[in-house]
Amino acid sequence: DWTMGAFRAEAIARIRAQVGEGRVVCGLSGGVDSSVAAVLIHEAIGDQLTCIFVDHGLLRQGEAEEVVRTFRDRFNIRLIHRDASELFLRALEGVVDPEQKRKTIGRLFVEVFDEEAKRLGGAGFLAQGTLYPDVIESAHPTGGASVTIKSHHNVGGLPERMNMKLVEPLRELFKDEVRALGRELGIPESIVGRHPFPGPGLAIRIPSAAVTREAVAMLQKADAIFLEEIRAAGLYDAIWQAFAVLLPVRSVGVMGDGRTYDQACALRAVTSTDGMTADIYPFDMAFLGRVASRIVNEVRGINRVTYDVTSKPPGTIEWE
Ligand code: XMP
Repeated sequence: DWTMGAFRAEAIARIRAQVGEGRVVCGLSGGVDSSVAAVLIHEAIGDQLTCIFVDHGLLRQGEAEEVVRTFRDRFNIRLIHRDASELFLRALEGVVDPEQKRKTIGRLFVEVFDEEAKRLGGAGFLAQGTLYPDVIESAHPTGGASVTIKSHHNVGGLPERMNMKLVEPLRELFKDEVRALGRELGIPESIVGRHPFPGPGLAIRIPSAAVTREAVAMLQKADAIFLEEIRAAGLYDAIWQAFAVLLPVRSVGVMGDGRTYDQACALRAVTSTDGMTADIYPFDMAFLGRVASRIVNEVRGINRVTYDVTSKPPGTIEWE
């Protein structure tokens, strides 16, 4: 792609000019934006960049491993993988309220990131995958520096506290342009074309209940089956987001000769262009039946599957 080729060269020159001999830290989440920012900056300044991946244990199945494999092993980027799942689970113990979950996760995320960045002995720059729409949304009325809205992804509040300058090489781009740049940089399609994923992760897909290790494991399995079937049917790219939600309700079922009394899960899949409004994805019933039967047979603890047929508005995409 000519446009992205030119953008890539220019962006690299700009990053080098801004950073000089300085050191940069970048928070990596596994999402598209931070991934593209990290690879671009690495191309510009190599080992002057260190990525910090704060793993809250609330990612989709296999995702943490994929982040490490891709960035450390394939791109040779200096990467700190901090497995903080124990810390997050402990802090989330007994937390049921959605906003309380978000606050708890956001606060811990910043704390852990901060700790890892300090351990590196101080970097002058903090890289963020801020996009143009983030810049507009968060533009300060007096024209001051932008503060990004998605604090979970973009570690809001850190630069001020740590006295760091921001490196934001994607500030002029829209999502589709970031994806094109990512492909230009050789980032695998599994990351570049990935559905959006909320910063608080699976915690907000366990509604009306506290997050436990068992609940997360159950949800990851159901979610992985749903996504595997969506990919196998060639539907992944036609869908904006698809995921499973673990419901806080038990129902009676029958399995073999026995009675079960287990949890239910809901499947959610929507089309959208920006996440502000969304329509449900119209799967055929045979597809949904196949997914339901696989989940009930393969995931212990789930014996019933429902499909969420609520559009946004009035529903939101996530359940919490
Ligand atoms: P809702 O549920 O509000 O979601 O319709 C719209 C989009 O935002 C994502 N989302 C979040 N992303 N932190 C995030 O980084 C959050 O707390 C959060 N809540 C919702 C959601 O996945 C969808 O793409």
